[in-house]
Amino acid sequence: MQQSLGVAVIGAGMAGKAHAAAYRAASTVYRPVLPPIRLVSVADVNTALGQETAARYGFERHDADWRSIVEDDAIQVVSVVVANFLHREIVEALLAAGKHVLCEKPLSDTIEDARAMAVAARAAAASGVVARIGYSYLRAPGIAFIERLIADGRLGELQHFSGRYWTDYGCRPDAPMSWRYRGPAGSGALGDVGSHLAYIAEALCGTATEVSGGRFHTAIAERPEPLGPVVGHSRGDVGEKLIPVENDDYATFNARFERCVGTIEVSRVAAGHPNTLELEIFGSRGAARWSQANPGRLEVMLLDEQDDVAGYRTVALGPAHPRYAGGWAMDAPGVGVGQNDLFVHQARAFLEEVAGIPESESLPRCASFDDGVHHMELLAAVTRSAELHGAAVPVPAA
Ligand SMILES: NC(=O)c1ccc[n+]([C@@H]2O[C@H](COP(=O)([O-])OP(=O)(O)OC[C@H]3O[C@@H](n4cnc5c(N)ncnc54)[C@H](O)[C@@H]3O)[C@@H](O)[C@H]2O)c1
Repeated sequence: MQQSLGVAVIGAGMAGKAHAAAYRAASTVYRPVLPPIRLVSVADVNTALGQETAARYGFERHDADWRSIVEDDAIQVVSVVVANFLHREIVEALLAAGKHVLCEKPLSDTIEDARAMAVAARAAAASGVVARIGYSYLRAPGIAFIERLIADGRLGELQHFSGRYWTDYGCRPDAPMSWRYRGPAGSGALGDVGSHLAYIAEALCGTATEVSGGRFHTAIAERPEPLGPVVGHSRGDVGEKLIPVENDDYATFNARFERCVGTIEVSRVAAGHPNTLELEIFGSRGAARWSQANPGRLEVMLLDEQDDVAGYRTVALGPAHPRYAGGWAMDAPGVGVGQNDLFVHQARAFLEEVAGIPESESLPRCASFDDGVHHMELLAAVTRSAELHGAAVPVPAA
């Protein structure tokens, strides 16, 4: 067995906790082939949160400054799970120190930073350092099953895709200002939740080549100053001072993909929808739809059914489907897989690659930083389309 891998997580907020929990559980799914995982540190400037998260998930310590992780030779693997505008500085320092990095999506909130990070990742790869980006929903068995239906030809030629990711974390005017409301055009709902939907759409429909119909809307122009730390979508006490919102509350666009066309609509002000990620894809021989609200199920419609029973059927995902058998403590049909579980498979895939387990024996690899740059190019093209009142804008080739 290989020497142990020391792990750290930078950022103990909403997604940071999911990464910390996932590293703890990564060795408990699939075959026991990973080297021992040593949970070393959780770093957060909010020391109370860092301390709580480290204690909760069994990490040896917490750090207030992420540079302590960079300098620690006992740490080889680091997740970067802080605000997008902070990714570049931290990731570049970690890669320069030879740490393997799993960075949260999107790679950054500017295309320039994302490109610089990809250059750093390519340089680090020459010394065997792995830099990857976490697109957690690609681990969802329902989405993997739609990928299989497409690859098998069971849906036929793809015709069109429709996806929405509606959230309501910003629907109340008293939701406090946070990093999510700051940044360039396109770094709001589009960068936050639209980034998830865009990479899922590309996984199913092929690479995006052109976008059009870009439209952004900022529904709430100012938000109150928080009187304490804001973590994830938490609210809490706010002051009198109002701070301008800089980016989009709502975004929509059309896209031409390699295999079909589609429409995407995302929001952070869709009251009543805390986390509605839904998608539907239509082909010449059938259709499929999946919702994060019911992630252990997939609806499939196949046109070669007899007319009198044609229609959507609901399939309970289980060991017959991808990313299931052996992949969970209880992997029986109908048991279901939730959003937190996806981080476990993501951490597992990253640790397998770092540990040198061949790709053929591993979970699908996490995406590269070059993939992350392409993804940022897609979001930048949507922003350009919105600036041009919906004009068609090409997406640069990946
Ligand atoms: N894959 C997913 O499903 C998913 C879900 C949510 C967020 N995310 C991504 O995860 C990242 C973080 O989002 P979040 O919702 O967890 O944010 P968050 O605001 O809840 O947490 C960020 C944490 O970073 C800490 N922090 C700020 N500056 C720091 C610094 N200099 N050093 C160390 N810690 C610092 C903050 O105190 C906070 O606790 C973003 O890139 C976001 O897009 C991904």
